[in-house]
Amino acid sequence: MSCPPKSDDLVFFVNGRKVIERNADPEVTLLNFLRKNLRLTGTKYACGRGGCGACTVMVSKHDPVSAKIRHFSITACLVPICSLYGAAVTTVEGIGSINTRLHPVQERIARSHGTQCGFCTPGMVMSMYTLLRNHLQPSEEQLMEALGGNLCRCTGYRPILASGRTFCVESTDCQKKRTGKCCLDLGGNDSSSLSRESDICTDLFVEEEFQPLDPTQELIFPPELLRMAKNPEKQTLTFHGERVTWISPGTLKDLLELKAKHPEAPLILGNTSLGPAMKSQGRVHPILLSPARISELSMVFKTSDGLTIGAGCSLAQVKDILAEQVSELPEEKTQTYRALLKHLKSLAGQQIRNMASLGGHVISRHCYSDLNPILVVGNATLNVISEEGTRQIPLNDHFLAGLASADLKPEEILESVYIPHSQKWEFVSAFRQAQCQQNALADVSAGMRVILEEATDTIKELSLSYGGVGESTIGAHKSCQQLIGRPWNEPMLEEACRLLLEEVSLPGWAPGGRVEFKRTLVVSFFFKFYLEVLQELKKLVKVSDSHHYPEISDRFLSALEDFPVTGPRGVQRYQSVDSHQSLQDPVGRPIMHLSGLKHATGEAIFCDDIPMVDRELFMVLVTSTKAHAKIISIDLSEALELPGVVDVITAEDIPGTNGAEDDKLLAVDEVLCVGQIICAVVAETDVQAKRAIEKIKITYKDLEPIIFTINDAIKHNSFLCPEKKLEQGNIEEAFEKVDQIVEGEVHVGGQEHFYMETQRVIVIPKAEDKELDIYVSTQDPAHVQKTVSSTLNIPINRITCHVKRVGGGFGGKVGRPAVFGAIAAVGAIKTGRPIRLVLDREDDMLITGGRHPLFGKYKVGFMNNGRIKALDIECFINGGCTLDDSEQVTEFLILKLENAYKIRNLRFRGRACMTNLPSNTAFRGFGFPQGTLITESCITAVAAKCGLLPEEIREKNMYKTIDKTIYKQAFSPETLIRCWNECLDKSSFHSRRIQVEEFNKKNYWKKKGIAIIPMKFSVGFAATSYHQAAALVHIYTDGSVLVTHGGNELGQGIHTKMLQVASRELKLPMSYMHICETSTATVPNTIATAASIGSDVNGKAVQNACQILLKRLEPIIKKNPGGTWEDWKLLLNKESVFQPLDTSGDTRPTWTGRREKETLSHTMSMEQPVLRLKLTA
Ligand SMILES: Cc1cc2nc3c(=O)[nH]c(=O)nc-3n(C[C@H](O)[C@H](O)[C@H](O)COP(=O)(O)OP(=O)(O)OC[C@H]3O[C@@H](n4cnc5c(N)ncnc54)[C@H](O)[C@@H]3O)c2cc1C
Ligand code: FES
Ligand code: FES
Repeated sequence: MSCPPKSDDLVFFVNGRKVIERNADPEVTLLNFLRKNLRLTGTKYACGRGGCGACTVMVSKHDPVSAKIRHFSITACLVPICSLYGAAVTTVEGIGSINTRLHPVQERIARSHGTQCGFCTPGMVMSMYTLLRNHLQPSEEQLMEALGGNLCRCTGYRPILASGRTFCVESTDCQKKRTGKCCLDLGGNDSSSLSRESDICTDLFVEEEFQPLDPTQELIFPPELLRMAKNPEKQTLTFHGERVTWISPGTLKDLLELKAKHPEAPLILGNTSLGPAMKSQGRVHPILLSPARISELSMVFKTSDGLTIGAGCSLAQVKDILAEQVSELPEEKTQTYRALLKHLKSLAGQQIRNMASLGGHVISRHCYSDLNPILVVGNATLNVISEEGTRQIPLNDHFLAGLASADLKPEEILESVYIPHSQKWEFVSAFRQAQCQQNALADVSAGMRVILEEATDTIKELSLSYGGVGESTIGAHKSCQQLIGRPWNEPMLEEACRLLLEEVSLPGWAPGGRVEFKRTLVVSFFFKFYLEVLQELKKLVKVSDSHHYPEISDRFLSALEDFPVTGPRGVQRYQSVDSHQSLQDPVGRPIMHLSGLKHATGEAIFCDDIPMVDRELFMVLVTSTKAHAKIISIDLSEALELPGVVDVITAEDIPGTNGAEDDKLLAVDEVLCVGQIICAVVAETDVQAKRAIEKIKITYKDLEPIIFTINDAIKHNSFLCPEKKLEQGNIEEAFEKVDQIVEGEVHVGGQEHFYMETQRVIVIPKAEDKELDIYVSTQDPAHVQKTVSSTLNIPINRITCHVKRVGGGFGGKVGRPAVFGAIAAVGAIKTGRPIRLVLDREDDMLITGGRHPLFGKYKVGFMNNGRIKALDIECFINGGCTLDDSEQVTEFLILKLENAYKIRNLRFRGRACMTNLPSNTAFRGFGFPQGTLITESCITAVAAKCGLLPEEIREKNMYKTIDKTIYKQAFSPETLIRCWNECLDKSSFHSRRIQVEEFNKKNYWKKKGIAIIPMKFSVGFAATSYHQAAALVHIYTDGSVLVTHGGNELGQGIHTKMLQVASRELKLPMSYMHICETSTATVPNTIATAASIGSDVNGKAVQNACQILLKRLEPIIKKNPGGTWEDWKLLLNKESVFQPLDTSGDTRPTWTGRREKETLSHTMSMEQPVLRLKLTA
């Protein structure tokens, strides 16, 4: 193989340290570089596409135009290291550490209880840190904006924002109101209930105790980089990788020369479009041209008729430039700028806006673009340049459709975009509808512009441009043409809607589907535009009232209000401990998550943060591309020849059992869904393994039937297990006696677990006795251990699974990790080398199933007063291609269908459908949320028929007296009723409902809703043998305590709670105690940490173990009854190792208290259903 040509040195700084990369590979992202080369694993990989913010770091650069240092957040997963020449990168490790000094952001997010699993926390910290580097006292709006690109899957944003608000100019956080009265509380009822509850606390942190933010302590911009920036090198820098060469010219002339020489080479700026496209399409561009050092592309020119913005300006910079223009110019001139600004606030998250360039946005021509429709109607022009000179291209539909005649020539680049000022009697608006307000692509976006004949309502010019409705941004030219000359009034509106629906005809395959919804948006946006223009005209009329414009009815005005982006408000209320409780006893107190500070500093180690082990290999899975097919052949030859590839693991390599007959680990002969695992490549690096899987050739023969939906499964009688049925009373007879009967159907979609940490496992084979160490992100290490054992055909006692912490599970890491662990273990045994398997987000979402979609039919019989007498529900869940947990989910669903209602005559039936989809699995609620939706739909249907409120029907049918549930459990509804009444009272439900009704009467287009729904949710497993746990507690001779138990730390804080228990029992501060990990070697045969009982059962086991130990300590304590742990520990040191102190004659030489299989039926929640009332408004 020939040597690649010599690269220039890539120079940048990370956390104040200089990095010189002599062989920078353009395909390496900053995230990989930080994690692998610099071993800075605080920056996390979660999505790899800029969508979640887990990999957020701060970049600082000298801006040649403003001559200032710019600090901005970016998502490291999209940043090629080559783009960092001359930049300073700050990661979560660079701002503070528990071993040195915590940064206030890190301290506050942890102490405000803003971390659970902690996987998102470093990203949150870095977004807030960057904000504070730019604004010492930000506004709340700025805080929301800074965190808009960061997802958290477990904590909920309230406590995270609460920590951020402590830096804001004026903190308005509810949590800070020591009264405990929420700012949302209405009416007088609440104060009485609050005064009744003097034992209720709301303080989670004391702001005054936080260390202050001291900007002088921050890392400075490296002077060397400043010197480099002030005397910029004009020479071209080149970085050669294995497949890609990165060329970064120092002058515009060189750039144009290079573009002429390599017309196919894309320009790379933010890489937010190019990067994800290259990844998903597996496309390689041999040459990338980086114009990052060309200052001409960042120029901004303000002229009397418009604004010219350099194509290299980031969208965040464009936002600032436009805001400045809007503040400087009269309103009539800034219509287009305001419309652009509106969308720039919601386009992606802050990190993407910091990276993405205006040029990249325009040239990418995404059909969902938010800005292009506005630029089109605003008559923007593209200034393009090549060696031949400059020219202008109109930014119109032809350009956006990529017509060669309207496009840039291959040797041209976009230099800048000219956006003209608007004029008087010209109105421009922007609209977008997305699934959420921030960080979500729009379903439909639109730019609309009208010019009226001066001081009249006659349309002189009209342009409407839509994104998201076709392959590119499209204009409604015909409709606009036909409306010219028409007055701006209701008949015109009606005609416009008719014309638009005709012209903007969405094809059935429209990107993103949901055609009917999008068609509705096409016209409803125009309706809003119509109202907006009328409102603007009303303002103008004051100045020139020569014309009379149609009035907007007050009822319609709410259509004009956008929903404001506001942070979640709320207050956490908890019961304070008894005043007699010892100060040392932490049970019942709001203790910070044990790992909170480590989450915030990035020092908490997750599975893939474990350093590479000697001779480690990387595994990538090869999955089926067919939904149902026979495997004809698998050709591995080409893949095996690639450099770095060590082996390909197939079903034939499995020494033991290949999963279950109907749920194989690796497919044999037949595949049942797209995403089914067929084989796995092991290679020296992840990159080599990923390249190799593309070379594996699998031929298939399609098989019939292919079933995707529940309806298809019913048609084909395709089920995974027999029907589950529960019947009570005499339903047929009851239906005959009721006043009314309603029948209906409910469809519930699925859901992706989206744990931030994807599935990952490291298997390390040991040289001796076929032992294996497995580090795995799972809720059930014992299941991984058992599966590996049967797969390898070795005894369970040779396999040790370790779980330090899990970056979110939600049910998705109960069953599946065993599959990945077993396949990786086969690879480890076959190659004799450690294997690391880390799923990409795409693979994780493809291979693992999620929540079961459901189809339910109901028939409900009731009296006119709302009392339900008979309920018949039949439901089907989509189980996917294998059984997994679908039978249990169906059972659980059926058992919980009654929710909180006592219905004497009922019949519940459920079936799990077998379809050609990845197997669906356990998911928070285990079928309960889907099932209850059917029951609650019945309630709403009954309410509508009886003319009563749904909450009246709920109350009427709720359990009232001590009774048995349909699953034959004794149940006292006292808590249920108390909880219901408290929620009604504390939420001021009735007064809020009246307000909602009044609002709805007054507002035709915008409606509010309010509902209160009881929830009787019994925690625990159906098999009570699962309600067991074990713990192992060691007291060492220095007095320190090591607690181990069978629960896994998934973010719920189970380790913190276990230490609280141990601390109470041993009467010892938590600081003496430690939990290292969950391991199958210390606590064997554990149950999955699931079903909401992890803390209950393990807590009891820990308690028991501690009590045994305390008993053994009695002789020592008796020698010095008034002593402290420090005194006893000295005695312990002298006596324990040599003398067994256990009076029962236990001769174990170490201080080990152990409690196994602690059965807790007396505390089990199956006996005491937990009542959780959900309040939504
Ligand atoms: C997580 C995420 C969320 C997003 N959300 C939204 C959203 O809500 N709304 C929305 O509208 N968009 C959204 N986007 C898309 C985003 O706006 C675009 O990806 C971005 O604007 C592209 O700019 P860039 O600088 O990163 O382009 P790059 O990826 O660097 O380049 C893209 C293309 O532009 C070409 N190019 C760049 N500059 C020039 C130039 N000066 N001359 C000639 N060719 C050039 C390149 O050759 C390349 O082909 C999102 C993207 C991501 C990753
Ligand atoms: S944004 Fe980079 S991992 Fe999600
Ligand atoms: S704490 Fe945010 S994802 Fe778990």
